[in-house]
Amino acid sequence: MSKSETEFKSLLKSHATLVENTLIDLLDDARVGCEIERPSRLMKAMRHSSLAGGKRLRPFLVIESAKIFAVKSQQAALAASALECIHCYSLVHDDLPAMDDDDLRRGKPTTHKAFDEATAILAGDALLTLVFDILAKQETHNDANTRIELVKLYAQNAGLGGMVGGQMLDLEAEVKPSINEQEILTLQAMKTGALIRAACEAGAILGNASKEDRARLFEFGKIIGQAFQLADDILDITSDAQTMGKQTAKDAGKGKGTLVSLYGLEASQTRAKELLDQAIVTLEPFGEKASILIEAARFTVERKN
Ligand code: IPE
Ligand code: IPE
Ligand code: MG
Ligand code: MG
Ligand code: MG
Repeated sequence: MSKSETEFKSLLKSHATLVENTLIDLLDDARVGCEIERPSRLMKAMRHSSLAGGKRLRPFLVIESAKIFAVKSQQAALAASALECIHCYSLVHDDLPAMDDDDLRRGKPTTHKAFDEATAILAGDALLTLVFDILAKQETHNDANTRIELVKLYAQNAGLGGMVGGQMLDLEAEVKPSINEQEILTLQAMKTGALIRAACEAGAILGNASKEDRARLFEFGKIIGQAFQLADDILDITSDAQTMGKQTAKDAGKGKGTLVSLYGLEASQTRAKELLDQAIVTLEPFGEKASILIEAARFTVERKN
């Protein structure tokens, strides 16, 4: 294992712990005024869906892209945790019977299984709204304009033109007789790519980076976002529920159009490697400073779960 690979492995763990602890504090603090009732069932469902699990790749990307610009670690941790809240909410809703109807997530029962559908919907809603709260905090960034930039970045990538829009296209594609490569690329860039891209750009925003540096991180995020979903689709075929912590062999079962269904397994694996090479090239101008992000790109493609 190379030095940066070893460092990446240990950082993936330590950043995940930092995000986990930040999320615990944020959920504990999420109250309005001094004494308000926080329904314990909702709190439990939010904890169930956001704590103890997940690779925490998106927050990792926020923290590591911020590090390039020497952003304070508390600021990066808050922005990273906010993005993870959006991701966790997206998983809760993605698993609902009306969407993918899944029983297993991160090795545990999905939120609607552990609680009930209505509670899962509300837990997702409350995780998303917690994001406004986090991004408005002065601790997230001293400069209000920077905070507004982050709000804009997350909102645009989470919503209509990003993750939620992509989920809509994904559901529509399940009932369409066929789907072409460009349509798959677009829907995947939205449903999965958008949040991963936003994670990489967030560091540039927090660090008040130049337009060129932000554009480089945007490009890097775009490529690894595509690679990430390609790997997810490959793992859906090659892995198992025990390793993934979620049901596998779902896509073919549903007749879902993925790049793997289009290119085949081998060509998809080759394509994922090409994307990794492209991602590495986009970071060249950052030199050594980007070595951990490069390892993150490798992980995106070579991960086992
Ligand atoms: C799963 O994302 C949803 C997709 C976009 C494919 P992750 O594979 O990052 O899920 P966790 O956070 O590690 O559980
Ligand atoms: C989901 O894609 C992407 C989200 C926005 C949550 P999938 O439906 O393929 O994700 P998994 O396989 O359930 O994690
Ligand atoms: Mg889905
Ligand atoms: Mg799903
Ligand atoms: Mg999947």
